[in-house]
Amino acid sequence: AWGNPMEIIDRAVRGGYAVGAFNMHNLETTQALVRAAEQANSPVFLQVGRAIVPHRGLRAAYEMTRRVAEESDAELVIHLDHGPLEEVYEAIKLGFHSVMFDGAHLPFEENIKVTRRVVEVAHDFGIPVEAELGKIPDADEQVDWSSYYTDVAQAERFVAETGVDLLAVSVGIVHGVPMSSPQPLDIERIEKIREVTGIPLVLHGASGVPESEIRAALAAGVHKFNADTDLRHAFRAGMEAVWSEGDRQLEEAMAEGRERMIAATVEKMRLYGCADAA
Ligand code: G3H
Ligand code: 13P
Ligand code: ZN
Ligand code: NA
Repeated sequence: AWGNPMEIIDRAVRGGYAVGAFNMHNLETTQALVRAAEQANSPVFLQVGRAIVPHRGLRAAYEMTRRVAEESDAELVIHLDHGPLEEVYEAIKLGFHSVMFDGAHLPFEENIKVTRRVVEVAHDFGIPVEAELGKIPDADEQVDWSSYYTDVAQAERFVAETGVDLLAVSVGIVHGVPMSSPQPLDIERIEKIREVTGIPLVLHGASGVPESEIRAALAAGVHKFNADTDLRHAFRAGMEAVWSEGDRQLEEAMAEGRERMIAATVEKMRLYGCADAA
């Protein structure tokens, strides 16, 4: 069943937990996310993101996600992850329930201008918008964190002037799982941004973050966690376990990948607190 994205988030804010948002990559991974939602009795954001879109095209990825999801009783939302402008508009036309416009690479004033326009269009269609301020590096990229973190004063202005529903922040997280020990999260920055913006925050790159920091981020004002890599690794481990026993059918390997991914997703739903929240 289709969920209402902001109704799901508002419930999480009131209940003091966060909702999981996970990326689909093919039929089996989409099924894994939907089954995890069913098993954990949890709402979930099914994300169509940057890996699948060039590979399959936005429409094909959306159609696959919709077909798998519409057969389920779980509370599901199809969300565009890290969309450039044209993709956001295409997603709105296709019927996505929620979109992220990622203007983090734009100069600040330009990010405000473009995001505000996206919000106007999306809200006309009844669709909420997640935006990003500050830059999120890839794992093991050498960066000067001071130029990557979300600035608190900028966040206040950005949210007031754009009217976004959710804000993705850069607070020491990275996309992927770093080989070396991860940068600790700047929990105080999350608290301050939450306070000045007044809207729920999103933590991308939740894979590879210690559980204690996930809990602290949640308490500080994060109500949507994006995780991909940890679940992809679980899927891969399942396939490798089957293939380590000799040559087997792809379906058999993918079925074991799906089982492992379901278990890993349910575990994250419990950690974020959205299990049994449907
Ligand atoms: O549906 C989306 C808006 O109407 C704008 O779309 O800029 O791709 O024409 P467009
Ligand atoms: P991870 O791969 O680090 O979990 O990041 C996922 C993400 O942020 C998707 O938008
Ligand atoms: Zn992300
Ligand atoms: Na990460």
